[in-house]
Amino acid sequence: MGTVDLLITGGNIFWKNRFVEASIAIDKGKIVAIGKEPNLPKAEKTLNFKDKIILPGLIDVHVHLRDQNLSYKETFESGTMAAAAGGLTTILDMPNNDPLTISPESFNMRVNSARGRIYVNVGFYSLLPGDPTDFKRLVEMGVTAFKLYLNKPYGNLDISNDEDLASSLLLCKKFSMPIAVHAEDYAIISKFEEQFKSLNLSNFNYFLHAHSKEAEIKALLRLLKILKNLNYKVHISHLSTAEAAKIIAENRDYFTCEVTPHHLFLDSTVINRLKGFAIMAPPLRSKSDITYLWRSLRHRIIDIIASDHAPHSLAEKISENVWKVKPGIPGLETMLPLMLDSVNKGLLSLNRLVELMAENPARIFRLPFKGFIDIGFDADLTIVDLHRKWLINPSKFMSKAKYSPFNGFEVAGYPFATIVKGRLVFFNGEIFERAGEIVFSKRFSS
Ligand code: NCD
Ligand code: ZN
Ligand code: ZN
Repeated sequence: MGTVDLLITGGNIFWKNRFVEASIAIDKGKIVAIGKEPNLPKAEKTLNFKDKIILPGLIDVHVHLRDQNLSYKETFESGTMAAAAGGLTTILDMPNNDPLTISPESFNMRVNSARGRIYVNVGFYSLLPGDPTDFKRLVEMGVTAFKLYLNKPYGNLDISNDEDLASSLLLCKKFSMPIAVHAEDYAIISKFEEQFKSLNLSNFNYFLHAHSKEAEIKALLRLLKILKNLNYKVHISHLSTAEAAKIIAENRDYFTCEVTPHHLFLDSTVINRLKGFAIMAPPLRSKSDITYLWRSLRHRIIDIIASDHAPHSLAEKISENVWKVKPGIPGLETMLPLMLDSVNKGLLSLNRLVELMAENPARIFRLPFKGFIDIGFDADLTIVDLHRKWLINPSKFMSKAKYSPFNGFEVAGYPFATIVKGRLVFFNGEIFERAGEIVFSKRFSS
């Protein structure tokens, strides 16, 4: 073998389900060899990561990058810098944009606008278009997955109509397309929201009341009925309640699911103190829900940890009127640190973290050559300092959203470096190259 582009040495790498002291040879963005350094080819460049742990590049399947007409909240640059700083090498971008990602034209526009501006790899979701021809074209154009919001109507899909939902989901099945679902029932949420607004009831408790557990349960049960008829599986975004976790546990043929760090670490009592910075949909729940989510995580009912990075401007987060607060918080730069901290506390193993943040995302969202360190796989690597203690400080975020409910948390575990397609994107607090590639799904091998 001739000279390769890059050699990663000195670290403990996660290879074939265990940690080994070995080096990785990288060429043209791919892993070409793994072994002890003397047995590996010479390289143009060597990076030594002594005392660090080298994980497969972590994947966040739930990110709102905004940009376009929402660039005041986040841009492709700021959002993917935040991802790199948070130890993520591939992220999936949500479609509730302005303009909406919902048609071949809007998908094309968004993808073209992202080109050359991304620090990590980005795949794109689309909303479910009403028109089957548009659906097929979106699949051919390489959309990674579809997103169904049961909490709010988008485009011309009638989410109150079971038959319409069934025919959209049938298309997903026909094309083997992954589909993620926001499972909160629109009828319940909007009824309460309208009622509270008309009565000028605007304190933070009313948001919790409108986004009740029942709203999550109802959406899930309704979906389950449709999925049993179709015999297809969907991915549930940001699972938040014990009851929903039970439904999923009993119906693994029809559901995979993700949970966010905020639903794992924060209960709704923090809203009194944090106000808008702790408002998101679905909302924070009770301590017993949290206990149940952790239990479900240990029992492999939860497949993925995802951030639901949903940045808004500061002005959109500070109001005493909860209906004026935009739900959602930034999460890219706190997710991995919080999970590494949990590893240090013995709440989960590092192997399980890799499963939840790399292997399962790659499998469920069908991202080829991602999720594992192995020969032939993409050279996407997340390098962590498992023991470094530090304080979460949102004023230092790369994201435009410089606030967080985790402000001031002391964590052990630091995303030290991020390598994307063999290029160093982030190293010890500093950002370097825009090495990200757009991830196009290949459903048809034409
Ligand atoms: C998200 C957003 O702001 O786009 N907000 C949120 O509270 N999670 C939308 C979503 O993920 O449902
Ligand atoms: Zn959602
Ligand atoms: Zn979201």
